[in-house]
Amino acid sequence: MKTIIEPFRIKVVEPIRITDRASRERVLRAAHYNLFQVKAEEVTIDLLTDSGTAAMSSQQWSAIMAGDESYAGSRSFYRFEEVARALTGFRHIIPVHQGRAAEKILFGLVGGPGKVVPSNSHFDTTRANVEYTGATALDLLVAEGKDPASEHPFKGNIDLRALQACLEEHGPERVPLVMLTVTNNSGGGQPVSLENIRAARETAHRHGVPLFLDACRFAENAYFIKLREPGQRDRPVRDIAREMFSLADGCTMSAKKDGLVNIGGFLGLNDDSLASRARNLLILIEGFPTYGGLAGRDLEAMAQGLAEVLDEDYLNYRFVSTAYLGDHLKAAGVPILLPVGGHAVYLDARRFVAHIPPEAFPAQAVACELYLEAGIRSVEIGSLMFGKKDQATGAFRPAAMELVRLAIPRRVYTQSHIDYVIEAIIEVHGARRRIRGYDLTWEAPYLRHFTARLQPRQGPDRPECPDSGRHSG
Ligand code: F0G
Repeated sequence: MKTIIEPFRIKVVEPIRITDRASRERVLRAAHYNLFQVKAEEVTIDLLTDSGTAAMSSQQWSAIMAGDESYAGSRSFYRFEEVARALTGFRHIIPVHQGRAAEKILFGLVGGPGKVVPSNSHFDTTRANVEYTGATALDLLVAEGKDPASEHPFKGNIDLRALQACLEEHGPERVPLVMLTVTNNSGGGQPVSLENIRAARETAHRHGVPLFLDACRFAENAYFIKLREPGQRDRPVRDIAREMFSLADGCTMSAKKDGLVNIGGFLGLNDDSLASRARNLLILIEGFPTYGGLAGRDLEAMAQGLAEVLDEDYLNYRFVSTAYLGDHLKAAGVPILLPVGGHAVYLDARRFVAHIPPEAFPAQAVACELYLEAGIRSVEIGSLMFGKKDQATGAFRPAAMELVRLAIPRRVYTQSHIDYVIEAIIEVHGARRRIRGYDLTWEAPYLRHFTARLQPRQGPDRPECPDSGRHSG
């Protein structure tokens, strides 16, 4: 059959609200034009994130009833540890409540002033956790990864020459580890090839530096490798995932993505001394090493989710349904990041609203418009999230790209929901010349996008915008 169906049927339903434009205008104003500040019940289709938003399976729910809630030595921990160890091969599996807790512990131990942490692209919480220790977070993505129109199959790859130069310049004294984010969320959910992981490992090891994976979306990365990397098509995706982990010396993992759970994560390590120090810190901030900030039932759900996510019917459906959204937008002339990533479709706001300059947050403007049009919540990944003020001159430094991420929660929405999203985006794109930029009225010192307050730019309408395509990258 040509039609790829959702490989599940629905046993429990959760109503969503259909709202009207006038109420959405009130809601957005009260939220200071920040979609993180909008109550979920005011959202019709929530594509803010694919993190912690998955629908769990009947087997995960039944595993939850089997959770052992003992403080120490819980049976659920040992089940989880066995599954995570069989998948990753890491000697030490340290449970945490979510990915950033693993980052906080890891960089609390290996970071610090003067340290440099290179990556293909750090996700925002990773960067913040590195920088919080006084270390520098470096993004060394290949050039293709920064070009929204490039159809390179592995746009998440790290630039190996830049990595080599970084390691030569700083050495193992200053570079505690090299990180690869698979898939590369900040760069559009693009995969890293096995070849690139292998070469990054060799480069890092040559300088005596370990390689870590930010493994949140390891299954999607492994499936991309299966589909796109020469010689990988006939391998079970589980084998590819295991090989990815086998090339690394450790990982941080937010199981809220490819763990198919609503909460959970872990830190995987091979270094015994680092693991021992990590467990000490874990006890301080998360909990005892056999639960680490989670309930026994959460560990059960995570163990089950880590197995389910490697089901190839599931992964095929996941990729086909995400591509369905991307293909329809592309066909309608809406500028999107290509090729479509695993967990999300990204609108390229620099071309979508070419008349809005980066300092007026074009991607935020499009995100607000999608909410006003149809109650769709997306997230800005552009200059609101990553833009900076130059310390010396105070000048605005824009992000490399201005993207609106439409993240697809796992196993949650059906094709008709996605058809609704497509229709709304095409409408908004048709009326894009009317969209205005925004000004910041308040910002926090770290991760400002979560709490920033904005207001629509005042003054006369923007000059006529040329057709999309003027800015190509
Ligand atoms: N690394 C990557 C690549 C991520 O995408 C995230 C979270 C984290 C680390 C942190 O994990 O949320 O469990 O603490 N990304 C979410 C998102 C928030 O919406 O993409 P966490």
